[in-house]
Amino acid sequence: MDLMQNDPRHVIEADRANVWHHLLQHKPHDTIDPRIIVEGKGMKVWDINGKEHIDSVSGAVWTVNVGYGRTQIADAVRDQLVKMCYFAGVAGSVPGANFAKRLIEKMPGLDRVYYANSGSEANEKAFKMVRQISHKYHGGKKHKILYRDRDYHGTTIATLSAGGQEERNAQYGPFTPGFVKVPHCLEYRAQDGWEGENYGIRAAEAIEEVILREGPETVGALCLEPITAGGGIIVPPKGYWEKVQEICKKYDILLHIDEVVCGLGRTGTWFGYQQFGVQPDIVTMAKGVASGYAAISCCVTTNAVFDMFKDDTDRMGYFRDISTFGGCTAGPTAALENMKIIEDEDLTGNSVRMGEYLASKTAELMDKYDCIGDTRGMGLFQGIELVKDRATKEPVDEKITYGIVGDCMAQGVIIGGTNRSLPGFNNTLLFAPALIATTDDIDHIIDGVDQAIGRVVYGK
Ligand SMILES: Cc1ncc(COP(=O)(O)O)c(C=O)c1O
Repeated sequence: MDLMQNDPRHVIEADRANVWHHLLQHKPHDTIDPRIIVEGKGMKVWDINGKEHIDSVSGAVWTVNVGYGRTQIADAVRDQLVKMCYFAGVAGSVPGANFAKRLIEKMPGLDRVYYANSGSEANEKAFKMVRQISHKYHGGKKHKILYRDRDYHGTTIATLSAGGQEERNAQYGPFTPGFVKVPHCLEYRAQDGWEGENYGIRAAEAIEEVILREGPETVGALCLEPITAGGGIIVPPKGYWEKVQEICKKYDILLHIDEVVCGLGRTGTWFGYQQFGVQPDIVTMAKGVASGYAAISCCVTTNAVFDMFKDDTDRMGYFRDISTFGGCTAGPTAALENMKIIEDEDLTGNSVRMGEYLASKTAELMDKYDCIGDTRGMGLFQGIELVKDRATKEPVDEKITYGIVGDCMAQGVIIGGTNRSLPGFNNTLLFAPALIATTDDIDHIIDGVDQAIGRVVYGK
């Protein structure tokens, strides 16, 4: 082995010269070193300079739900890979079959698991299913897919076409036709005239208005996050989901719920939609399925959806789709162990308990600082919305958000923030720690945020 490969200076220079990082402006790397993370254990990660950080966002994008350094997952993946690493999904695999069965046990009313390897890809699968159903059964007419303002469903052109975050989409058009936006349901920023007790129902009725405007015979599916994640941690208000379900049934519209962030366990139930008693037709998931120990995503459907493709009278009528890496056995193997850890350690229960603690701590910060306009979330998934003025709710400039995130990072506390997503509204701090978080971990994170707000907003 090339001994240079372990030399920090060599790694940093190789990275600087040849790696194109995600979501990053690279100009600062002309003068400062790129960040390189080399080790993780539990809630902590260490960078290449040996600096320790506590991670309140599970690998920056809410993924490592069971925490770092799980040898149980690594050992199972290693054993599986030497036995059988890969065969395309035209055939089955032992971990693929076993994980599908275990997953479906957690999702009453759903039946079939389609494997892929990223959240975007799982959502693309769902979109393709909707489009093909439209062609097979509705003469191609019922092809439109509704998505919600502020939601995010991925980074590919079709998933950006279903993306409600204008800054994410900017400069990447033109987009795929047939995607139609419905309004968001953030009560704190209720649309004019919708405020009040019935806000949830009003926000759902706004979806019906779009359906009627477009023509229900043209709308095939409604795609929603159970809780909007990167769009600012938006928990749908009371009455919303019941009404959404009713509308979908009324107009024969498939309900596709994107659980890429909320599955598995993030909010305190296996999936976010289970908090609201709603019954989807299609559920997509990725990040927390194997906690990032292997790449895996799933597009899960009911048998009613599956059976629409089980028809050998039409030679083109089956789902003619493949994901090459959806056949990797590492994914379902890691996912089986990940699910076992969540069960054995009652991490959904911990998410509820520690979620309440985290919410009480963000509420304390709100008592202390008038730059906090709203705190919200569910389980270990919480946000803090920053404002210039509580009365007008004018959002802070994004440099305040990024300043707080940066100050925390300098303290060794990794937090998140709405990131070049929503014009004028990149003003929410995001927390989604591993589901193993303790009160001490949360105190550590909140102490960092407290100091950062004091310095960045009040110059203390
Ligand atoms: C709700 C949601 N859906 C889909 C995606 C896309 O997942 P991936 O980056 O794995 O393609 C994300 C990523 O952040 C997400 O937050």
